[in-house]
Amino acid sequence: MTRDAKLLPDTGEPGFGVYVHWPFCAAKCPYCDFNSHVRHQPVDQERFTAAFLKEMASMRALSGPKTVTSVFLGGGTPSLMKPETVSAILDGIARHWHVPDGIEITMEANPSSVEAERFRGYRAAGVNRVSMGVQALNDRDLKFLGRLHNVDDALKAIRLAREIFPRMSFDLIYARPNQTVEEWERELRQAISYAVDHLSLYQLTIEEGTPFYGLHKAGKLIVPDGDQSALLYEATQEITEREGMPAYEVSNHARPGAESRHNLTYWRYGDYAGIGPGAHGRLTHGPKKLATATERKPETWLELVESDGHGIADQEMLGYDEQADELLLMGLRLKEGIDLVRWRQFSGRDLDPEREGFLLEHGFIERLGNSRLRCTPAGMLILDSVVADLAR
Ligand SMILES: C[S@@+](CC[C@H](N)C(=O)[O-])C[C@H]1O[C@@H](n2cnc3c(N)ncnc32)[C@H](O)[C@@H]1O
Ligand code: SF4
Repeated sequence: MTRDAKLLPDTGEPGFGVYVHWPFCAAKCPYCDFNSHVRHQPVDQERFTAAFLKEMASMRALSGPKTVTSVFLGGGTPSLMKPETVSAILDGIARHWHVPDGIEITMEANPSSVEAERFRGYRAAGVNRVSMGVQALNDRDLKFLGRLHNVDDALKAIRLAREIFPRMSFDLIYARPNQTVEEWERELRQAISYAVDHLSLYQLTIEEGTPFYGLHKAGKLIVPDGDQSALLYEATQEITEREGMPAYEVSNHARPGAESRHNLTYWRYGDYAGIGPGAHGRLTHGPKKLATATERKPETWLELVESDGHGIADQEMLGYDEQADELLLMGLRLKEGIDLVRWRQFSGRDLDPEREGFLLEHGFIERLGNSRLRCTPAGMLILDSVVADLAR
């Protein structure tokens, strides 16, 4: 893939993204319920590469010819992939779909698995944006989060990413046990000073089935309550806005024009092909979207792809109501809100005027001209109930 083309501007269209999932990590973080697995034997990357390419052909058959607007290599820890693996995947994508120069090609990376030579290899393969899981900027909290890196490693990785890639983002997890607003504000300001143009700032969520879930249930891990979380969230909005990196989505902040094109496709309810173990896809067929989900377990997925050409475990044409709910759930996370014409297209109906009126009156949503609707800052704080109200 071409390396040097200038990033194409955001057209505001939902777009078509290709997601590829690398399902392995060096260690499992105690808060994480993503499809990530630890293997003590080396992973056979050649075998996985062949399977990615095979499944890609099946997804191409389902999507039809398309112009790709973004690629995302997520995980797991994709920075454990060899550059040759990344190169083969990106070349495969360009053989199956039309890939214009200058589209966003992101790869997730862990600071503990960053190496200059591999980073240069990813860049040569076509990656032009890195999203790094920094999570915290103090060693005590990194340890608590079970991370393999310390602050020094994180800063080195950030420096290297800034040197090699034109675009870079990093993730932090806040609302940690006992975290005060003052501590978080200090850490966030420091993060902004290292950032290029994009930051993902997630509140710690306790996911079922994780070690943190057990500790939380046993009363041994106490996370900030609703009021404290709201204070932390508000401080996050205030500081990032003041520093020129406002939220364009609940947890994502960017300088204008530096928003993640790939994630915008999800939130604008565009189409995407999901390749690899546990990847999800949404592919438009007429007025409906086909939802695909592949087998999560890496080795089972591998065998399925080798025998059947794909690892799809679930495939379903979504109904109008499901599409309507998904569009709301994704779109109301965005500052730009949802396009009501698209809502009508996918739902086959108009929003219930009574419910909309109620939320408008109480200042939880607002209209942007005639054709857009979005959450107000007050609505964002209770996003789940706003969505539930409109979706019913
Ligand atoms: C799938 S991970 C991939 C990034 C990379 N593997 C890493 O962790 O460095 C994407 C991001 O989700 C966030 N995340 C995962 N579990 C979370 C949780 N329970 N609460 C809040 N954020 C979480 C982390 O910030 C993480 O960087
Ligand atoms: S490194 Fe990332 S994907 Fe892997 S377990 Fe930790 S948070 Fe999850």
